[in-house]
Amino acid sequence: MSPLLVTRTLPEDATDAALRADVRHGLTVQPKWLPPKWFYDARGSDLFEQITELPEYYPTRAEREILATRSGEITAASGARTLIELGSGSSEKTRYLLDALMPSVYVPVDVSESALTQAGQALVEARPELEVHALIADFTAPLALPATPGPRLVAFLGGTIGNLLPDERAKFLSSVRSLLAPGDGLLLGTDLVKDERVLVRAYDDAAGVTAAFNKNVLAVVDRELGADFDPDAFDHVALWDAGQEWIEMRLRSRVAQTVKVPALDLAVDFAAGEEMRTEVSAKFRKDGVSAELAAADLELTHWWTDAQDRFALSLSVVR
Ligand SMILES: C[S@@+](CC[C@H](N)C(=O)[O-])C[C@H]1O[C@@H](n2cnc3c(N)ncnc32)[C@H](O)[C@@H]1O
Repeated sequence: MSPLLVTRTLPEDATDAALRADVRHGLTVQPKWLPPKWFYDARGSDLFEQITELPEYYPTRAEREILATRSGEITAASGARTLIELGSGSSEKTRYLLDALMPSVYVPVDVSESALTQAGQALVEARPELEVHALIADFTAPLALPATPGPRLVAFLGGTIGNLLPDERAKFLSSVRSLLAPGDGLLLGTDLVKDERVLVRAYDDAAGVTAAFNKNVLAVVDRELGADFDPDAFDHVALWDAGQEWIEMRLRSRVAQTVKVPALDLAVDFAAGEEMRTEVSAKFRKDGVSAELAAADLELTHWWTDAQDRFALSLSVVR
């Protein structure tokens, strides 16, 4: 068994500086917003895993169904010897790909150190032949990947691409493309446009787990920057924006209040009912995915959906 290799590509103070910059910017613009990557401390990653098991949250089950049935075809089309997974989280669904591809190296990349090390350790124990080189990194920044054997398959699952705004997606896809050589590929998971009620329920479950996940960003800002956000003073909001075709998660201030963020020397006023955006989750159609890939010089070569057409996996192999 090879030991789990963990590399932090950004110094810890860079994460701290990025959080400070995002919070300062997000809390001083109108409307206020915070980027979703700050949900994912250890508790946030754990809450996300709970979300994936909720009856209302169909994307994980739908994507798992595609991976369980199509990993053989993905393997035949890609033949990758290195699997790189961006935003890998628990790597739970990845096992279908690992079983079929049998790569020599797996490179999970995530901002959540707890999720990465837990998943990585379990994998090296279960698969002694697999080299696991985990990267603590922000996939929206230029990635310094370890030198590993090609061809390489970059997987970006879970519909996480939908958490990026359209211009961020374009930048992200171009930067992924710049990592790929001929024979390499991108396997992209995208949640599809569907009935609004199904979508909203997936982000506003009856048990309140998504609400707790949404409010966790306030706990992160409180802990890291000494802020005094009271999560109980905000309500979880999930709504469908039909124009943008995305779900938006927001936190709505229950009362007029002032929140202090001592590390930034900031006092932030919230009006009663004021909403702060914490995540968008864009939903896609095949034409749109194909066009966004093409704009990044990637050709959609395969498109698979689950039996109910809720979620899609697309593969682009570089010629
Ligand atoms: C929606 S979850 C998906 C997790 C997993 N891929 C799945 O399909 O269940 C998003 C994952 O991406 C990670 N993440 C979010 N923003 C990130 C960023 N900017 N850079 C690296 N990882 C990020 C989170 O920590 C989390 O593990």
